[in-house]
Amino acid sequence: METNPTAQILVVDDEASVREALCAILEPEYRVSTAATGPDALAALERHPVDLATIDLNLPGMRGDVLLERVRREHPATEVVVITGEGTLESATHGIRHGIRDYLVKPFDVAAVRESVARALSTHTRQRLRIRLWQVLEDVVDRERDLPALMKSLDAELFANGLAPQSANSDTHDPSDPVAAVLRSLAELIEREDPYMAGHARRVAHYAKLLGERLDLDAETVERLRTAAFIHDIGKIGISPALLSRPGALDPAERARVERHPELGARLARELGLDDEIVTSIRDHHEWWHGGGYPSGARGEKIHRFARIIHLADAYDAITRNASRPYRTMPAPQAVAAELTRLAGVQFDPALVKAFLPLVSTPAKSRREGRKTTTPPRQRGPRKTYGGARP
Ligand SMILES: [Fe+2]
Repeated sequence: METNPTAQILVVDDEASVREALCAILEPEYRVSTAATGPDALAALERHPVDLATIDLNLPGMRGDVLLERVRREHPATEVVVITGEGTLESATHGIRHGIRDYLVKPFDVAAVRESVARALSTHTRQRLRIRLWQVLEDVVDRERDLPALMKSLDAELFANGLAPQSANSDTHDPSDPVAAVLRSLAELIEREDPYMAGHARRVAHYAKLLGERLDLDAETVERLRTAAFIHDIGKIGISPALLSRPGALDPAERARVERHPELGARLARELGLDDEIVTSIRDHHEWWHGGGYPSGARGEKIHRFARIIHLADAYDAITRNASRPYRTMPAPQAVAAELTRLAGVQFDPALVKAFLPLVSTPAKSRREGRKTTTPPRQRGPRKTYGGARP
């Protein structure tokens, strides 16, 4: 894993020998300072913010778990790796609840320390970059700055941080187009925050393309559809990764923030000069066929066809992707088909579901499922839906 020689690390441990050992491991690659107590560590952070702190849980005076909480609260930009002599399930759980990046038990392994710190700093760099990218993009939107110059600087920044697009095997239509390249990088950046999301944009683009071809759209239109599908969640760049990947229900304010992403994305796409069809489809990709989606609650054919296709492709990926998580089993193709059929005419355009099912089902199954969609079922009660739309 690559390291960042400008990263600053604070080692907090009451034992001089441990501080010395950690300095010996980390100093060749980072700038390292030390503190022996909690109050000393907090004072040092006030004077010089750092990128990462290693914290011993068993400190005299202010306990390590209290220090950990204060560092996360008062210096949220500082990553924390806990290195402790007394590893317990309770202390690990406490640390995870307070957002630590890793938890190592003494006696520590040199390679494990190096790897853990490098991994935590890599996440840190991506999150900082993500915030900075959004600030730059907002700046451009608000002040009409020079777009080509901005794209060049974003590209350089993405490349410098190992996030440049892989143009050699690009899946978007024009690798030489700097706007498309940057947007593709942003889409991939969003995915990197959640390992289960890896490849989501690419898969949604692929399903949308299959469906576009099935509907006999011309090649140029299919390419525009594929681009729109690839970047449909681009507005999530403005939303905290912690919020996006949080399991369980969101409170109303959090939900409102997440539901802004189609409009944020559309605004970005418009300012970046993408055509109206792409802009509209990004804005509408959470609208529902029967209304009740967001942001506007548009219904039926008032929703752009690209957006209806992307919504279906996105939901299909959500169903199959969620099912592939380690603690669940992959649903049978007929169960996936039944789920999409259940929501045809409610969440999805029924004609699109009918066209899509044969593409993702076994031939024998698809013929049977295809006939089922001729009479779209009505939704009964608050059953599960996909894509975060309002029930
Ligand atoms: Fe979305």
